[in-house]
Amino acid sequence: MTPIAANEIRLMEGACQLAARLLKHVGQYVREGVTTDELDRIAADYTLSHGAKAAPLGYHGFPKSICTSINACICHGVPDKTILRAGDIINVDVTVIKDGFHGDTSSMFFVGDVSDKAKDICDTAYNAMLKGIDEVGPGATTGDIGFAINKLVTKRGYWVVKEIGGHGVGKIFHDDPWIPSYGKKGKGDSLKPWTCITVEPMINETSAPIREFSIPNSSIKYYETSDKTLSAQYEHTVLITDKGHQVLTEGG
Ligand code: MF3
Ligand code: CO
Ligand code: CO
Repeated sequence: MTPIAANEIRLMEGACQLAARLLKHVGQYVREGVTTDELDRIAADYTLSHGAKAAPLGYHGFPKSICTSINACICHGVPDKTILRAGDIINVDVTVIKDGFHGDTSSMFFVGDVSDKAKDICDTAYNAMLKGIDEVGPGATTGDIGFAINKLVTKRGYWVVKEIGGHGVGKIFHDDPWIPSYGKKGKGDSLKPWTCITVEPMINETSAPIREFSIPNSSIKYYETSDKTLSAQYEHTVLITDKGHQVLTEGG
């Protein structure tokens, strides 16, 4: 992917900071009794009122402004009339386009009190993302990131999703390189300064295969664990600098 021009880095930072603030805003509304459609509406209003566009809306026919993935849903859950119930865990994944740049970030949220098991898989996914981000820098490879993620996840007794991963991001929503949640040190693509990637490991409670489902009128698929056990994910957009990296969707 093409590096971002020096005078445009601040635009990418701005898009990513808006995404971070949007995610925090939506997160405040996650509670028992709320529908995922209501979260989508809250996100859409916030995005538009901040001079941005929701990247998922209409993307390959995707019908909503955010993805909401509950419990066994791995990613790309479509907001609908589903009511959040106490004990659920939900990933909210937001991507905004502001000034021509994409900011992409996601987090898990708890609905009321959740089980220790649910807390542990979310904590592991968060730490897996941080371990992956630790590897990011000029000359590091996508395999370095995947190796670090898979090592932490395996050590803690979970399974990485191999079929779906992170991506280059900037003016384009999903650019190369592909960022797997497994790999070998030194293998894969080298990361180039002044490009951005997402680190967004998805992890499952068991090794059961994942199941793919179609979304009407869209080529985007959503995914669930085939045995209905839990899945968790966090995502940040990260800039590769000349010396290391900067997490652009931090804070919020
Ligand atoms: N935000 C997701 C990602 O992290 C992509 C969602 S695409 C959609 O890459 F069409 F499902 F919204
Ligand atoms: Co992403
Ligand atoms: Co995302």
